[in-house]
Amino acid sequence: MALLALVGLFITSYAGDGMLHWLGLAVFATAVFVNFNLIRVAFDEAEGKAGKTYEVVPIALLLVAVGSVLFHVFSPWWWPPIASNWGYIDDTITLTFWITGVVFVLIVLFMAYCAYRFRHRKGHRAAYEPESKRLEWTLTIITGIGVAAMLAPGLFVWNQWIEVPEDAAEIEVVGQQWYWSFRMPGADGLLGTADPRNVSPENPLGLNPYDANGQDDVIVDAAALHLPVGQPVKLLLRSNDVLHSFYVPEFRGKMDMVPGMVTYLWFTPTRTGSFQILCAELCGVGHAQMRGEVVIVEETAYLAWLREQATFGQMLASTDRNNAKPRTAGATGGAESHD
Ligand code: CUA
Repeated sequence: MALLALVGLFITSYAGDGMLHWLGLAVFATAVFVNFNLIRVAFDEAEGKAGKTYEVVPIALLLVAVGSVLFHVFSPWWWPPIASNWGYIDDTITLTFWITGVVFVLIVLFMAYCAYRFRHRKGHRAAYEPESKRLEWTLTIITGIGVAAMLAPGLFVWNQWIEVPEDAAEIEVVGQQWYWSFRMPGADGLLGTADPRNVSPENPLGLNPYDANGQDDVIVDAAALHLPVGQPVKLLLRSNDVLHSFYVPEFRGKMDMVPGMVTYLWFTPTRTGSFQILCAELCGVGHAQMRGEVVIVEETAYLAWLREQATFGQMLASTDRNNAKPRTAGATGGAESHD
């Protein structure tokens, strides 16, 4: 049954999105259920309710340990190839996998050993030993070292995560139900202020139309963001409605977007290509469809793309300017200035 559960998992992981995927999941779920039932029956029997099935428990546990390792090695479920500088994040997760994996296998093997060694036999009695100082100390120290080894590397990575390189280009990412938009400072290098109260069909990002810094801002509304390869970027993340989260699996890190706040995330793209942006925070019925695209290109292609994009001033000029003006008197200041 343990083997059958693993076979189900393998089918699920290799089948993609088709019927086979769900069939594999069904096999897995059924096998897990039967497995637990077998163990329950075995415990009943161990309590003297007749039978001999409990002898399969150590074997089932052994298969769980061996099968889990095999599944980890042979399953295709792993990260997509990395496209940013955040290899450290992979390293810390790999380290955690090693530590938790070794502990998992040891504990399951120990359980299998105990289930076999101390199985029910006529004429044998269990002895009760409630306390062992030495064992408690040993386990506490080993657990402490393991937990520290999992947490400490994260602190070093976090330090790099929050220290943005000085030459990082600042680009704003706006999330709203249910699409992504982007804004780059124009020639002045400054982003204008913005406020969700300014949002209108003509001004989807809610920029302040009276802020001189914002007139030359380049707007990429609900289209792919292009970035030059090898240059660090700092994404300023903002939401116009509810919680969203910016996540590109190939860039590894992710960051929540909180209405009323500007959060940030930095990275250096390390290879060209087209990468999907996912929203990683449940944000309403369109959450699963909230996808965007980041295209990493060479510098010259990036500059050519940038020249084709409209500035906020051009967008205002092409629509009736009155439509874009703030709806409330206090909205021009903007609580979300980046300057
Ligand atoms: Cu936006 Cu989920």
